[in-house]
Amino acid sequence: MTKKILRVLNGEAVWPPPVWLMRQAGRFLPEYRAVRAQTKGFMDLCTTPELACEVTMQPVRRFGMDAAILFSDILVLPWALGQDLTFAEGEGPILPPIRTREQIEALDVAGVRAAIAPVLETVRQVRAALNKREEEGEGQATLIGFAGSPFTVACYMIEGGGSKEFAHVRAMAHGEPELFELLMEKIIAGTITYLSAQVLSGAEALMLFDSWSGILSPNLFRKHVIGATARIVAKLRERFPKTPIIGFPRLAGLMLGEYAEKTSVQGVAIDTSAEPSIAASMIPAHIALQGNLDPLAVVAGGAALEAEAASILNALKGRPHIFNLGHGILPQTNPDHVKALVEQIKNA
Ligand code: CP3
Repeated sequence: MTKKILRVLNGEAVWPPPVWLMRQAGRFLPEYRAVRAQTKGFMDLCTTPELACEVTMQPVRRFGMDAAILFSDILVLPWALGQDLTFAEGEGPILPPIRTREQIEALDVAGVRAAIAPVLETVRQVRAALNKREEEGEGQATLIGFAGSPFTVACYMIEGGGSKEFAHVRAMAHGEPELFELLMEKIIAGTITYLSAQVLSGAEALMLFDSWSGILSPNLFRKHVIGATARIVAKLRERFPKTPIIGFPRLAGLMLGEYAEKTSVQGVAIDTSAEPSIAASMIPAHIALQGNLDPLAVVAGGAALEAEAASILNALKGRPHIFNLGHGILPQTNPDHVKALVEQIKNA
C-alpha cells in the first residue's frame, strides 16, 4: 500500500490527511535532549549516524507521525562546501561571512560528496528502521530528505548567521549581481549533489526549505527563489521521476501561485500567515498543500489549539493536504499538546 504522504504528493486528497511537524525531532522532546547531551555539539549529532537515526525516529515512535524527517540541518551544505560552522549554545549558527569573489571561488563543490557521507549513512539507517517498523505492523512513515533552498542558504553564508533583515544579502543581490549569482551557482550545484545522494540512500520525498524567500523583491524572488528552485526540481525530476518534492517559500505572500506553477514542485508548504483557502485558490488543484498551524497554538494547547487545527482541516478538506505547522515547532512546546493534536487529525 502506497504511503499516505506519497499519495497526497501524487495529487490525491486523502482523508484524514497525513500529519508530521516541521522540526519534529528536536528540543521539545526530553528523549532528544538526552541524546543531544551525549554529544559534543549539534554538528557532532548531525555527523553521528546512529544518534541522528535515533532522534529522527523518536517523534515517529512517540506520536505515530506519517513522516520521518532526516535529522540534519540546512547549514550542513555550507559546511560541506568548506565554510566553518558552529552552533553557539542558545544563539544559533555562526559562520565566517562570505562577501568576496576569492571566498566564493574557494568553496569546493567537488568536496561535498565526501563531506556528506555520514548524513547519507543516517538516511540508510532511518530507512531500514522505518522498513522494520512497517514489517512489524507498527505503521508506515515516509522518509523525507531535505536541503535549504539556495537563496536561504546564501542568506546564512553571506550574513554569517541569522538576521532580521539580511541587509548584506539583499545589498549584494541588487548591487553585485554577478558575485551573488556566482555564489548561487555553487549552492545550486552542491544542493543537486546533496539531494540526489539522499534519494540514492533511501529518501522517498524531498523538501526545500526557503525560510527567507519572503524578504526578496518580486523581481529577485522570480530569479533567486522560483528560478533556482525550478532548476533543482528539473534536474532531480530527470534523475528520479518518482521522488516528489515539497517547496517551502516562507512568507511568499502574493508570489505563492507563481511559485507553485513555475517551480513544478508536487507540494507547497504554506506558512502561518497564509489564509489556507486563499492559498489553495492560488495553487493548481493537483499540487498538494502542506501546513499551516501556528507553532504558538501548539504551545498554548487546549481548546485554542483544537479550534485552529479544525479550521485548517476544514479549509483544505477535499484538496491534497499534508497537515503540518506553518513554521518549526518551538522548544517550549509541551509534548502532550502534540499528542493531542496528532490524535485530533487522525480521528478527523
Ligand atoms: O526535525 C527536523 O525538522 C529535522 C531537522 C532540521 C533541523 N533544522 C534541526 C535543528 C531541519 C529540517 C532544520 C531546518 C533549518 N535549519 C531551517 C529551515 C526551517 C526553519 O526553521 O526556518 C533553518 C533556517 C535552519 C538553520 C538553523 N539551525 C538555525 C537558525 C538554528 C538555530 C535556531 C534553533 O532553532 O536552534 C539551527 C539549529 C538546529 N537545527 C537545531 C535543530 C534540532 C537546534 C540545535 C540543538 O539541538 O542544539
